[in-house]
Amino acid sequence: MSIHISAKPGDIAKTVLLAGDPLRAKYIAEKYLSDAVLVSQTRNAYYYTGSYAGKTITVGASGMGCPSIGIYSYELFTEYEADTIIRIGTCGAYSTELKLLDLINTDQAASESTFAKYAWGIEEHILPHQGKTFDTINDTAAMLNIPLRQCNIHSSDIFYRKDPEKPAIAAATNCLAVEMEAFALFANAKHLNKNAATILTVSDIIPTHEKISADDRERALLPMMQLALEAAVK
Ligand code: HPA
Repeated sequence: MSIHISAKPGDIAKTVLLAGDPLRAKYIAEKYLSDAVLVSQTRNAYYYTGSYAGKTITVGASGMGCPSIGIYSYELFTEYEADTIIRIGTCGAYSTELKLLDLINTDQAASESTFAKYAWGIEEHILPHQGKTFDTINDTAAMLNIPLRQCNIHSSDIFYRKDPEKPAIAAATNCLAVEMEAFALFANAKHLNKNAATILTVSDIIPTHEKISADDRERALLPMMQLALEAAVK
């Protein structure tokens, strides 16, 4: 039991898939895992451990933003046996170079966040994915014929803002899209020498205001879920 996760020691698998939304974690567990057991529901952040293709996997919730994923990923890495975390989430594209539903494997995450600096003394504002999971995801996508793009993304603390322009850090580091968590996940994994990757589905195109509809969301995210699960068991 950690402060924010009530699973017992041994109840969390070595590989954890983290969705922002607890109900998405529940959906994945119920749809894809066999013998899924709810191992934590503190704050309604559901964590399920079950088996996929014969391997034990945990699927859980990170919440939104660097502070939240910072807490969950740290506890999973240090108080349980997790050595690999794959975040699966959505992102907003900064330009029409990306299309709705495009899948991204995050190469580096850039952020204005002070999380890495004040948590771990990591001064960089752009951090790469950690370990070999990124490569495994690329190989898995190629094997499954799932189109996947590798690029940098912006991990922002801000969802709503007055200025519609692409933020300076995103322009300077060639980030094609924005989400809110990868930077803190990569910072924790770097500090702890663990594996971390982030797969994203483009859910909106910021300049044109196109969005996947609420109805489409569940179905739209299936390729990302399948890719993450297949990569997790490699
Ligand atoms: N901003 C931040 N996070 C997001 C967005 C966005 O526009 N879309 C999906 N996740």
